[in-house]
Amino acid sequence: MHTNQPSKVRSTFYFGLVATAMVLHACTSRMAEAAPAPPPAKSVRVVKGDPPPTSQLALLMRDMTAFADSTGKLVSAGKELPVYPVRFKAIMTAEATPGMVEHRTFDPYAQAWLGQLDALYAAPASERNEVFNSLVQTCAACHGLMCPGPLVRIKKLTIQENED
Ligand code: HEC
Repeated sequence: MHTNQPSKVRSTFYFGLVATAMVLHACTSRMAEAAPAPPPAKSVRVVKGDPPPTSQLALLMRDMTAFADSTGKLVSAGKELPVYPVRFKAIMTAEATPGMVEHRTFDPYAQAWLGQLDALYAAPASERNEVFNSLVQTCAACHGLMCPGPLVRIKKLTIQENED
């Protein structure tokens, strides 16, 4: 492990890039195809037998989204973080929808995201809001490059900084 990248500045910069890059990519249409019948379920069920409706990575992403959503609320409320989500290390190996991931691009962003996750857990409580937002910006940075569909949702995960 070498340098972590705690830099909010850098993430913020990516965030800007993302907005520009998102138009060029097409994960959006795939999202539309996948969208028609989302069960209003509380948990994700994988149906066996039929071709899997979602990849391992997509399922992991849903889990990451739920995590970011609930963790953002905890952080906003000044509460403790949930248990460290070790399961997200699988981002490096989870199988993606065919053609979706180009690993040369994906892998460094996935590493950066895991680095931000660690940074969140290492941050003093007083800095958690900012570090949490950097984590969300790292979600957005990757999505701007390869799967812009969820960007709107991702941006909504951002929480208030310097609350008081
Ligand atoms: C390193 C790149 C990368 C990072 C970081 C990343 N994503 Fe993703 N995300 C992807 C890719 C690629 C897909 C498409 C996966 C597939 O279809 O197999 C995806 C899919 C998704 C989906 C759609 C899942 C579905 O139901 O099909 C959501 C929602 C999502 N990501 C949210 C997030 C959130 C929230 C974060 C941060 C907490 C995040 N992503 C971080 C690359 C990334």
